Amino acid sequence: MEKLRVGVIGCGSIAQYRHLPEYKLNKNVELVAVCDINEERAQATAEKYGAKAYTSYEELLCNGLVDAVSVCTPNYLHAPISIEALNAGVHVLCEKPMATSKQEAEEMIAAAKANGKKLMIAHNQRFVPSHQRARQLIQSGEVGKIYSFRTAFGHGGPEGWSVDGKDSWFFEKEKAFVGAMGDLGVHKTDLLRYVLGEEITEVGSFVETSAKNFADVDDNAVCVLKTESGIIGTLAASWSYVSKEDNSTIIYGEKAILRLEEDPVNSLVVQYANGEVVNYQLGKIQSNDAGGQNTTHVINKFVDSVINNEEVPVTGEEGMRSLEVILAALESNETKQIVRVRER
Ligand SMILES: NC(=O)c1ccc[n+]([C@@H]2O[C@H](COP(=O)([O-])OP(=O)(O)OC[C@H]3O[C@@H](n4cnc5c(N)ncnc54)[C@H](O)[C@@H]3O)[C@@H](O)[C@H]2O)c1
Repeated sequence: MEKLRVGVIGCGSIAQYRHLPEYKLNKNVELVAVCDINEERAQATAEKYGAKAYTSYEELLCNGLVDAVSVCTPNYLHAPISIEALNAGVHVLCEKPMATSKQEAEEMIAAAKANGKKLMIAHNQRFVPSHQRARQLIQSGEVGKIYSFRTAFGHGGPEGWSVDGKDSWFFEKEKAFVGAMGDLGVHKTDLLRYVLGEEITEVGSFVETSAKNFADVDDNAVCVLKTESGIIGTLAASWSYVSKEDNSTIIYGEKAILRLEEDPVNSLVVQYANGEVVNYQLGKIQSNDAGGQNTTHVINKFVDSVINNEEVPVTGEEGMRSLEVILAALESNETKQIVRVRER
């Protein structure tokens, strides 16, 4: 079988920690091209992976060199690059948040459809074993009716992660469009939709810049959310959890409480109403500190979907719905009103 020829656009941290090494390990992939506007970075990455270096994504896309690309650039470039790739007949794995507006997201979905190419959004939280097990327990009725939830994603901020440190695009509104609310919050709106198996329909939120006076985006956000069946809960996203990352979710049901990624050893703890406790050790969640030790599954799933011509596990529509909750949260903060998600 011919190998899938892949390009990676943007050679910053997520490309270095996840996309590049995971493509390299995939036997069905040939990593043929990398692109970064920082020429030195593009060259160094190309040398490390035996690929060709580009500083212009247009050039990479126009010569028929690749069958698929990962889009690992700042957020404001996700839609233009993805659309250009899809129109060039190239499958796309795009990082989150998928776009900066609903309109952009719709244009990406339309471009994938028009060209008959795959568009997957890299929502890796869906592939974390504790999250998958929680979804199964809820779907099977084991937890009973779900009443409420509490989810959080916070760390010290992108200056400790981005390849450009404190000078990163993450802090510029024009390039990031949103701060912690979009960067980390969208992981959790996607996770809630996935684990609960229903849509979030109403959002109220406070979105602040509290800790990073050099940033022109938010670094702390707290939302109250309501789902279509009436489950209510909170979501916190932060770039100012200074000493320890929080990536936890708690789901309160009729028959049990599920604690996901809260305990450092037991990635899922199920506390039943009758006092019984079941601990699951399902492996660690990927974190900024974990480097390339464990796979996200995102890259392999994308490659499999392209090769087998199957639907990708996280479609553009799914990415858009998770983004819409973030857009509603931003609107709620502006208007000081509860915002209905799908009616916007
Ligand atoms: N799925 C996850 O868990 C996860 C984690 C971190 C980041 N991300 C997402 O990945 C994307 C990239 O984030 P990062 O942490 O790697 O950022 P980063 O700052 O480390 O790297 C971004 C890279 O993009 C390059 N770039 C900028 N403009 C470009 C252009 N026009 N063409 C090519 N390259 C360009 C920069 O030079 C830089 O090397 C973001 O959308 C971010 O939200 C996802």
